[in-house]
Amino acid sequence: MPKTSAFAADALTVDAISFSYPNGHRVFSSFSLSAKPGEFVAILGPSGCGKTTLLNLLSGFQQPQDGQIRINQAAVRPELAELGYVFQSAQLFPWLSALENVRFGLRMNATTSEAQQREHALKYLRLVGLEQAAERLPHQLSGGMQQRVSLARTLALEPSVLLMDEPFAALDAISRNSMNEETLRLWAELGQTVLFITHDIDEAVFLADRVIVLNIAPGGIHSELNIDLPRPRSNLHTRRLPAFLDYRNELMERIAQVMDMPSTPTRQPELTA
Ligand SMILES: Nc1ncnc2c1ncn2[C@@H]1O[C@H](COP(=O)(O)OP(=O)(O)O)[C@@H](O)[C@H]1O
Ligand SMILES: [Mg+2]
Repeated sequence: MPKTSAFAADALTVDAISFSYPNGHRVFSSFSLSAKPGEFVAILGPSGCGKTTLLNLLSGFQQPQDGQIRINQAAVRPELAELGYVFQSAQLFPWLSALENVRFGLRMNATTSEAQQREHALKYLRLVGLEQAAERLPHQLSGGMQQRVSLARTLALEPSVLLMDEPFAALDAISRNSMNEETLRLWAELGQTVLFITHDIDEAVFLADRVIVLNIAPGGIHSELNIDLPRPRSNLHTRRLPAFLDYRNELMERIAQVMDMPSTPTRQPELTA
């Protein structure tokens, strides 16, 4: 299991950022969060609260108007090799095999030969249990398998910080549970810092060391909850623990509070004549 230390420098720091879209829609106002090396943090919040925007800021696709974002103490910028991003849909190239999809990102590395890249890609396909499917095209794979290829493609770049944006939201419940277990197995083996975005309470509790609940934009963080469930976690065992159900009920209450809050806390006072 990856070790986190209260004294280790943060792997990821969001420091008092503010961000509005060009149309003036404000998503973050002096928003901060951080993650320790090897920590698994889940971000839970209703649709539209700014989860994807947060990951886009973290990965340098968007820039905050104020505040700072640091990955391993360095200012974030696009194409930072330490960052891996797993999207909600697998986004594979339909004309490339599973193996070639995984190899695609490695082709930028001019110092490795094609054979070395294929071997490296195969290692990560093996890690996600898809060695046998290496030569198949995406349409010959199930949704869950496609998402595994997508995961392998990101992991093959060996990032130390992994950003995951509702990666299993489109899967059926059985496949999602199985991918949740798979994610923890890979995390235990590779030890990255993970920021995992979800709107699924069970998924957040099952995976995370810590769950951060977001308010509706631009409300910032509603609250945090440490999840002290034993690891390794498994679907059969963990999801039945009384403590799992307690965490789940607690988060259900918090999400209900979030949904009840006015969506515009900075509402202007009504003008009087
Ligand atoms: N390009 C954009 N321009 C203006 N508003 C946007 C843009 N993209 C997203 N938004 C708005 O910003 C808010 C946060 O969006 P998003 O980060 O996608 O939410 P989430 O991922 O939590 O569902 C939403 O209200 C959304 O409508
Ligand atoms: Mg989103």
